[in-house]
Amino acid sequence: MKALFCCAMGIILSFVNTPLFSQKIDNLAVTSPDQSIRVTVQLVKGKVFYQIMKNEHSVIAPSSIGLKFRNIPNFTDNFIVVKSTTSSYDSTWEQPWGEQRWVRNHYNELKLDLKDRSNRMLQLIFRAFNDGVGMRYHIPAQPGIDSLIIMDELTEFNFKQDEKAWWIPVHRDNSYYESIYRLTPMSQIDTANTPITFELSNGLYLAIHEANLTDYASMTLQKQQGNGFVSCLIPWSNGVKVYAKAPMNTPWRIFIIGNTPGELVTSTLMLNLNEPCVIKDISWIKPAKYIGIWWGMHMGTYTWSQGPNHGATTANTVRYIDFAAKNGFNGVLVEGWNYGWDGQWYVDGSKFSFTQPYPDFDLEYLARYAQSKNVQLIGHHETGGAVSNYEKQMEEAFQLYNRLGIRYVKTGYVNKYLDGKEWHDSQFGVRHYRKVVELAAKYHITIDNHEPIKPTGICRTYPNLMTQEGARGQEYDAWSPDGGNPPSHTTILPFTRMLAGPFDFTPGTFNFSNPANPNTRVQTTLAKQLALFVVIYSPLQMASDMPENYEGKPAFEFIKRVPCDWEKTIVPQAKIGEYVVMVRKDRNTDNWYVGAITNEKGREMSLKLDFLEPNIQYTAHIFADGDAADWKNNPYDIKIYSIPVRNTDEIPLKLAAGGGVAIEIIKQ
Ligand code: NOJ
Repeated sequence: MKALFCCAMGIILSFVNTPLFSQKIDNLAVTSPDQSIRVTVQLVKGKVFYQIMKNEHSVIAPSSIGLKFRNIPNFTDNFIVVKSTTSSYDSTWEQPWGEQRWVRNHYNELKLDLKDRSNRMLQLIFRAFNDGVGMRYHIPAQPGIDSLIIMDELTEFNFKQDEKAWWIPVHRDNSYYESIYRLTPMSQIDTANTPITFELSNGLYLAIHEANLTDYASMTLQKQQGNGFVSCLIPWSNGVKVYAKAPMNTPWRIFIIGNTPGELVTSTLMLNLNEPCVIKDISWIKPAKYIGIWWGMHMGTYTWSQGPNHGATTANTVRYIDFAAKNGFNGVLVEGWNYGWDGQWYVDGSKFSFTQPYPDFDLEYLARYAQSKNVQLIGHHETGGAVSNYEKQMEEAFQLYNRLGIRYVKTGYVNKYLDGKEWHDSQFGVRHYRKVVELAAKYHITIDNHEPIKPTGICRTYPNLMTQEGARGQEYDAWSPDGGNPPSHTTILPFTRMLAGPFDFTPGTFNFSNPANPNTRVQTTLAKQLALFVVIYSPLQMASDMPENYEGKPAFEFIKRVPCDWEKTIVPQAKIGEYVVMVRKDRNTDNWYVGAITNEKGREMSLKLDFLEPNIQYTAHIFADGDAADWKNNPYDIKIYSIPVRNTDEIPLKLAAGGGVAIEIIKQ
């Protein structure tokens, strides 16, 4: 078993400054270990401002902080600094699965003990890493402060000027982040979800997000007058943002900072700002590749509900299990197996049973049959947003799956609200989603959460929260009235939503015809579908299409071979919204995988293979767009060939419009 934390070598150094009560302390600062990033805190007439610089460039201009309550006076001004403490930390830990195996957690910390006029204490904590900054509030236990009703958090995010951002709106298109990213000047934003990614005019890239969202409301950014945002927490239905008790921590507000878009992708700041794993034995948590009785429903071939086209029948599931076994997939997802789908389940999910299979689905037999073929049945809990109905049955449902040896469950919350009135991303939602992950861990079940709260790195603490949705996935290519995901979509995701963690996008559609919705389709070439297996990280990685669309297709070979757990990730070339080249080393072999994709423009690039070991012979199996390929008129044109390569070579990458290249590089 892979040990989760092998780091033990963490070093903590601390320095405490003497009490500081006056304006003299206006130079509090902390710098990253490599000295490139500097956070400065100033007190101006009792108000606290922080700012962030990278080298000589401004990242965040002076921005104030604060918290507003219903039951006690606000924490906004009249502060003095009582004490400032700096410390350093350096350790390396091993991920159970991930985009890179080893993670260095190296930072300098500044802790400020603040006191207001009524002698109430607030602590502000900053951690400066080489890849960005984390900041959080801590309200210590103290007389007069017990239960807290937080009505707003007033963290500002100010910029020097009107900067360009990739963003999605809050609750406008739907309540689970499934929007197409907009690229606009920030002056055109009203409220945005995080991660939000900026290309600053000084050339730097910045993503603002949060880490360790625990028992708190999720943070969005609301545009203010001038060039700034203020945090805006998602409320309960009664308007309260957060119910808390002192002592308490807010989630970390994080600033991922890179010289290139690729440096955002390889940042480990969010994971480092989450708590270490709390699950003692993680031997049952394993990355997996799966297929599912799924795309057929989205294309209208099957139904989730009972009837002549019911997809989740015993016979159909046997067929999928056999196909999975033959082609090396670890799992088969089956949706529509349980009572509750007949009628408008997405309006009223209270009819869902999580233990009663439909009569034409022999759950016990299929679980045994799958195991006999060394394949996992992947369970499905669609709740239709009816959380109370789910929570009543959840333990029994996990017990059932555990008894049957079912180790993965996909959950779903299709509804504008949870329980008819609460937002998915409210504190109510945060609490529910955590309850699911914790209970699932007790029954050794790994979760793939659809319609989730946005990921914030909780997967470090609970690695059984393996993947999530929380963005527009491939399913939109089946039925979206706007025609499907535009070719640029997947060239933006790695630098926005994907910074928050794995995404169950479900690449791998091979049949682009769509009789049910002729104006909607996959807007890629076939080769780009393959490249997405490398570009979009999910340790639980689904191949979306139906077996009949894979049978006999040479391109399917890449899907069979590509791993979904990585030792290392490199992003040698990328321009957000235009193209991405993602290079990853397999966690379990010496082989490398490349995914290169482009937006609607064809382009030619060249990939240096200097990441390979020197003086070693490799074979590159290349799955590239054919010479006449383009996503609109000739998407299936693909060239598959192999060449010998060494680390001094370059591979030309010729991407068609909406196209891509997928490469497997095998060590000889
Ligand atoms: C939406 C999910 O994203 C999709 O994957 C699933 O098939 C349906 N809900 C039904 O649960």
